[in-house]
Amino acid sequence: MSRPLLDSFGRQVLDLRVSLTDRCNFRCHYCMPEEGMTWLPRSEILTFEEIERVAAVLVHHFGITSVRLTGGEPTVRADVPALVARLARLPVELSMTTNGSTLSRLAGPLRAAGLHRVTISLDSLRPERFAAITRRDMLPAVLAGIEAARSAGLLPLKLNAVLMRGVNDDEVLDLARFGRDVGAELRFIEFMPLDAAGEWSASRVVPASEVLERVGSVYPLEPVPGRGAEPAERFRYLDGAGTLGVIASVTRPFCGNCDRVRLTAEGQLRSCLFAVRERDLRGLLRGGATDEELAEAVEGEVAAKWAGHSIGQVNFVRPRRNMSQIGG
Ligand code: GTP
Ligand code: 5AD
Ligand code: SF4
Repeated sequence: MSRPLLDSFGRQVLDLRVSLTDRCNFRCHYCMPEEGMTWLPRSEILTFEEIERVAAVLVHHFGITSVRLTGGEPTVRADVPALVARLARLPVELSMTTNGSTLSRLAGPLRAAGLHRVTISLDSLRPERFAAITRRDMLPAVLAGIEAARSAGLLPLKLNAVLMRGVNDDEVLDLARFGRDVGAELRFIEFMPLDAAGEWSASRVVPASEVLERVGSVYPLEPVPGRGAEPAERFRYLDGAGTLGVIASVTRPFCGNCDRVRLTAEGQLRSCLFAVRERDLRGLLRGGATDEELAEAVEGEVAAKWAGHSIGQVNFVRPRRNMSQIGG
């Protein structure tokens, strides 16, 4: 019998985000240092069987309804379609957040294995700037990946742009227009203090309100009603050209609605992107724990969730991990 997985505020957790690896073929400034990353050794990373087992426990014990694969970059892990095929046997919506650079090769196989949709990061449409932000000259590969995702039917397609003041905030309109043109929902994300270099400061954050004003003055927008537990606030173009989203993690935190739990590549369960504590599930998996014991460990960690991230306030505590080690 399934029972609700409740956090310390009585909210039900329905979404599992699984990081497949801490590795990435990019080095985005807001996420990773250029050099000096020490990657997890293979033996410390959960196997596909272990990931499938955790997901199945969450589905069967707690009725979770969605599983999202993240990284690092999830597609740098060998044979991701094989994992997708295993997870596709579960009654969940299956999605992936990726930098898009491998999708011209992988979109078809991922779709065929049962992946439903992808979200692709796209922070700039200018090749040189894209290369400066990601430290990889791969804008053409990402644009080809977006096209491949679309033609493979990984829909609805979403694009994530992390905005940083003085870096790419002059591209808001161009990015919004690109989303309209390719039939994807462009989501503008406020820069959060999860970068490895510690370059974050409040003055670098471009508030969602500014994005809405700038886009809305050219292409009028109206809110899409019925926001659930998603971080994105969604808007519809009045001319019918699709939707746009803003993820206002800093200026309008949505922790109060969050319904997710995260599993890191090495099998630590985190009840929040900003969690400072974790629960080791790998030890349980490899130590012969039963499904019920795993379920109880998950329940205990989620029940101990804290109140919210308080970015910008005196009580904000930076997590020990950077974004690539947590997985978006
Ligand atoms: P869908 O809307 O279902 O596609 O999922 P999503 O919006 O969670 O997808 P995605 O992985 O693209 O996440 C978008 C961004 O939202 C992430 O990169 C983070 O920057 C931010 N985000 C996601 N989850 C959280 C969260 O729990 N807390 C905070 N503060 N930000 C989050
Ligand atoms: N702040 C906000 N979003 C971030 N992402 C990575 N680092 C940060 C950060 N410091 C986003 C990426 C990607 C997702 C996995 O997380 O753009 O879309
Ligand atoms: Fe890689 Fe994504 Fe981090 Fe960029 S944001 S370095 S693509 S994991």
